[in-house]
Amino acid sequence: MKAHARAPGKIILFGEHFVVYNATAIVMAIDKYVYTSVSRRRDSRIRFRSINLGLEGIYEGEAYKPISGGLKAKSVFDPLFRTVRTLLGMYGGDLGLDIEINSEIPVAAGLGSSAATSVSLTAATAYLLGIDIDRRTINSISYESESIIHVTPSGVDNTIATYGGLIRYNRGWKRRILKLSIDYQIPILVGDTGISRNTGIQVSKVRLLANNYPDVFKYILRVYNELYKEAIATLRDKDLIRLGELMNINQGLLSSIGVSSQELERLISIAIEKGAYGAKLTGAGGGGCMIALVDRDRMDGVKWALDKASSLVLEASTDRYGVRVWSD
Ligand code: PMV
Repeated sequence: MKAHARAPGKIILFGEHFVVYNATAIVMAIDKYVYTSVSRRRDSRIRFRSINLGLEGIYEGEAYKPISGGLKAKSVFDPLFRTVRTLLGMYGGDLGLDIEINSEIPVAAGLGSSAATSVSLTAATAYLLGIDIDRRTINSISYESESIIHVTPSGVDNTIATYGGLIRYNRGWKRRILKLSIDYQIPILVGDTGISRNTGIQVSKVRLLANNYPDVFKYILRVYNELYKEAIATLRDKDLIRLGELMNINQGLLSSIGVSSQELERLISIAIEKGAYGAKLTGAGGGGCMIALVDRDRMDGVKWALDKASSLVLEASTDRYGVRVWSD
């Protein structure tokens, strides 16, 4: 038997950076997935293969032997190996596994590919081993893997990959996360500038600005908090035109705190010019991705224009299911 799982990536619809200052962000799972397949081996080794990254290697006990990709592959596979060991511990056996991972989500672009990988790996492995596991446990095991990669992750990426849908996230809340139920799709285009960005550096840049202009920053944050309330009401009303306008205002705030870039602004203005309801950067900014809210009728035109100016364009809508497993 081969067990399969898929888990979705994410975009931040509203509130990146302001969330660091205890505002609430709105995060959406997108219908772009990491797929993981797991099957048993005859020996006790654990073999990993990443199809999209072209990396492969095998663990014999704790020792790693590269097949392709050398040491770079080891740093990618080590957190995942840890996850598998946790699950084998729960199973109580010493099994060998063949694991194949394939991602539709661009890596290191702020779209949650690493969390979707660990969530799909956890679910597929548990399914193969017959471990009775609920979403909550999948989420917490995946968080461990995310902690190795991102040091102190907020936990929002693994949560959205596990549960899907729309989530409100606030660092100050006890459980940090509240699901927002919607019964419709939010049509999005994701445009990747192809410029790598570093979340930590972007967060520090904002911290410096906030320290230098505490009173000004306080009011920007206050504006965001009002915007957030409007966004929640607008999501409930299914008003995409208004939602787009609120995204534009959010982009203005992000630009005012210095996390946008020329390349992001270019993609955003192309999207608006071609008829998107609204557009903004998503995630840390400085590079990485932008998102545009686009009516289905205008999708092709906006996509065509963005395609010419970005390194990658993805058409995405809301994933409402989170992680899913099956077998063949
Ligand atoms: O780069 P991403 O998509 O992981 O998002 C970072 C979001 C920030 O608000 C900038 C940082 C954070 O930890 O919330």
